[in-house]
Amino acid sequence: MKNVYLLIKLNRLIKSVWIKNLGIYFLHITGKRYYAVFLDPIVMCNLRCRMCYFSDENYRKTHQSRKFTDDEIEKIANVFFKRALKLQIGCGAEPSLFQNNEKIIRLAKEKKVPYISMTTNANLLKDEDWKSFIDSGLDEVTLSLHGVKKENYEYFMTNASYELFLASLQALTKLKKQNPQFKIRINYTVNKDNLEELAYFFEIFKNYHFDILQIRPIQKIGDSDYNDFSWNSIIEQYDSIIGKLRQEAIIRQITFIAPEKKDLTKSENENSSIADSTNFYVSSRSCWEDGFDLQKDTYESYSKRTHLGRRLFKRIFQKSNNKTKKILNYKIN
Ligand SMILES: C[S@@+](CC[C@H](N)C(=O)[O-])C[C@H]1O[C@@H](n2cnc3c(N)ncnc32)[C@H](O)[C@@H]1O
Ligand code: SF4
Repeated sequence: MKNVYLLIKLNRLIKSVWIKNLGIYFLHITGKRYYAVFLDPIVMCNLRCRMCYFSDENYRKTHQSRKFTDDEIEKIANVFFKRALKLQIGCGAEPSLFQNNEKIIRLAKEKKVPYISMTTNANLLKDEDWKSFIDSGLDEVTLSLHGVKKENYEYFMTNASYELFLASLQALTKLKKQNPQFKIRINYTVNKDNLEELAYFFEIFKNYHFDILQIRPIQKIGDSDYNDFSWNSIIEQYDSIIGKLRQEAIIRQITFIAPEKKDLTKSENENSSIADSTNFYVSSRSCWEDGFDLQKDTYESYSKRTHLGRRLFKRIFQKSNNKTKKILNYKIN
């Protein structure tokens, strides 16, 4: 299915976790696509965003990582892409520091992965990079934003330049005209100190094109410079600011994704309970499940050796198998 947002909506409509697990088991044994690959081709970042673990010196010291070689990228493509519904390049680090993203995108295209996306801070990418990604087959880009105005943007995204971000947005807006199927998505990581300026979002960015706007409340994803997770002082304003933004997005035919106030303080939802079966994280530090060996294993050999089919079958009958994951409930318009 090309439209991943429809798939997400469908996933939400099916409330029963056991039916979802039954579907996953069925797709696995019939050789169909059923999972998303979250790929970090390099575990480094050019920025030190205050809400992110890259602002923590200890994290940086203990997470020095080499990047994937060409050979490893080919192995990853051969092992994972033919059963993947979605490939997301850039998950826990900055993918634009990797020099050969085009190769990843092209391989995913060759293996007919239905949806290929990239998440990036966009500061290092120039017009020609964007063109080259789209020409290689990128379906969507998610640009991360931690402030609407220059001051907050550069305060929260340490080392970033507002002008470089706008230059990428300008290049993408231009490319969108020649590639109307390409999707531009904004991921606004919101906290109590950058919520209010969201009210100016559409005024400030009125000249740029967006297809999707996601508001993602700050979560504890590791030790970080900024770690105020409280909403108490701002909770009453949350629904009013988000509500107005939602209305504006609907008028502009932009898909709007944000949790409602009532969900802000909740830490789990039912969809989280299938994430372990359908979200495969691949980086040079960790590849799918413990025990998977990229040099020796294939999807089939590993599944057979570790009885993946049997494990997925058992999950159908487990009452709830993953209530500790912190995944927020998002409302999609
Ligand atoms: C860790 S980044 C990696 C990808 C890329 N470097 C980027 O920033 O787009 C993935 C997403 O996490 C978001 N993020 C960073 N810190 C966060 C936090 N404390 N809570 C929730 N999301 C956060 C970022 O804004 C980004 O959209
Ligand atoms: S949020 Fe992304 S861009 Fe910012 S420091 Fe983290 S990995 Fe880097």
